[in-house]
Amino acid sequence: MNRSVSIFVCQSCGAETRQFFGRCANCGEWNSIVEEISTKSETKLRKKRTINENLSLHRSEPISLEEEQSFERIKTGYSEFDRVLGGGIVPGSLVLVGGDPGIGKSTLLLKSATSMAVDNSVLYVTAEESSHQVRLRWKRINETASNLNLFAETDLDEIIGELNALNPQIAIIDSIQALNNENLSSSPGSVAQVRDCSAALQRIAKQKNIALVIVGHVTKEGVLAGPKVLEHLVDAVLTFEGDRFGSHRLLRAVKNRYGATNELGVFEMQGEGLLEVQNPSELFFSNESASGIATIVACEGSRPIAVDLQALTNPTTYPSPRRTTTGVESNRLHQILAVLEKHLGLALSRHDCYLAVAGGLTVDEPAADLGIASAIISSYKNIELPKRTIFIGEIGLGGQLRPVKQVSQRIQEAIRLGFKKAFIPKGINSNDLTENFDMELIEVSSVKEALTTILSIEFEATEII
Ligand code: TYD
Ligand code: MG
Repeated sequence: MNRSVSIFVCQSCGAETRQFFGRCANCGEWNSIVEEISTKSETKLRKKRTINENLSLHRSEPISLEEEQSFERIKTGYSEFDRVLGGGIVPGSLVLVGGDPGIGKSTLLLKSATSMAVDNSVLYVTAEESSHQVRLRWKRINETASNLNLFAETDLDEIIGELNALNPQIAIIDSIQALNNENLSSSPGSVAQVRDCSAALQRIAKQKNIALVIVGHVTKEGVLAGPKVLEHLVDAVLTFEGDRFGSHRLLRAVKNRYGATNELGVFEMQGEGLLEVQNPSELFFSNESASGIATIVACEGSRPIAVDLQALTNPTTYPSPRRTTTGVESNRLHQILAVLEKHLGLALSRHDCYLAVAGGLTVDEPAADLGIASAIISSYKNIELPKRTIFIGEIGLGGQLRPVKQVSQRIQEAIRLGFKKAFIPKGINSNDLTENFDMELIEVSSVKEALTTILSIEFEATEII
């Protein structure tokens, strides 16, 4: 007899309880607990399956690490995608690609799948769209003939059967939330389904050395839907994000067992598919000059990108001034404003301050501090910053300028883009830099010294009353 038991599962973290709660005791999320029916036969079936699978697994032998394990990464057809992966897809690895609906995950993966299918056997499982819809998209991105195997299916057992039969080198699952394991009573996309389907896929991928690329949706809070276990399970987690109003898309590695994290790939969505942007600095920096605009070179992973920062300050009409940031953490702005007020004697606490990074990029490294401070003071004093100049440096709470990483890469990128002058913190081995670079490097030790030199004005600590 099937005896059904209700269990309550948090859709955010996957915690299970026997009772309904409005708030998950594990992750603190409200209204995330959903009732799922688990039947005795389901548990039995699950047990049976794992035992069978364990038996069918061949026993692995210990190997010496020095033994040559030659493998070649599979190129995705997009050099930007390869860069984020650390040089291409590692055979037998699991990659999770997350992103908002409609951002372009399917477009990116269909194009990559088509180009990988030239030299490899690729299975593209489309669980969300029909094969007719995928074919339409395929025509839209102007792909030429390829031997990509398209499989429109949502049933997990069917997909595993196909993986076993075809034994491809690469399989793409679009998306994990649409897969359904019939042995579970919960609906597709629920934590139980996502967890079970991904674990089953992982087992077969590792067994057969299939590289799996799994698409996952993100929730409205911007985190990957489904339990966190999914992130632990996979070798790499990539997020695909972009400005809803702009056409460019950013691919980031959040976790990568086979490459560096924080690598960034830049793409542009066009009418005929997703194109890669080889020179992203051109997207994020303009040669505009106006007060409140400063250019910095941010390092995204190993890649320097020149980007404009825009600041606007205005005397406030509110009891507490407004501070708004786009693309920069607001605490960073508060901290820099406090340092400027204290060390330069400016009445910034009586000014609203708005700060934005051009082009929807997020800059969260401290090396941007001097650029932020320069943009703010430039707007506050209504003086344009010197042309063709970049600002590099972290600002300490004492007003001192601290050295940052990857200075030579940043300067090289600035030179390539035609910059002539750079303000850098003292203490970086600048002899090496000046010898090799055709750029005027101005070393400064404090934010006061930097801004006095940049704007050629004196700051008196008398403005605050
Ligand atoms: P899609 O890849 O379906 O997004 P996801 O799989 O992440 O949900 O992307 C769909 C969006 O991209 C849709 O709004 C239309 C747009 N698009 C283009 O602008 N150009 C194209 O060539 C294609 C295929 C899609
Ligand atoms: Mg899609």
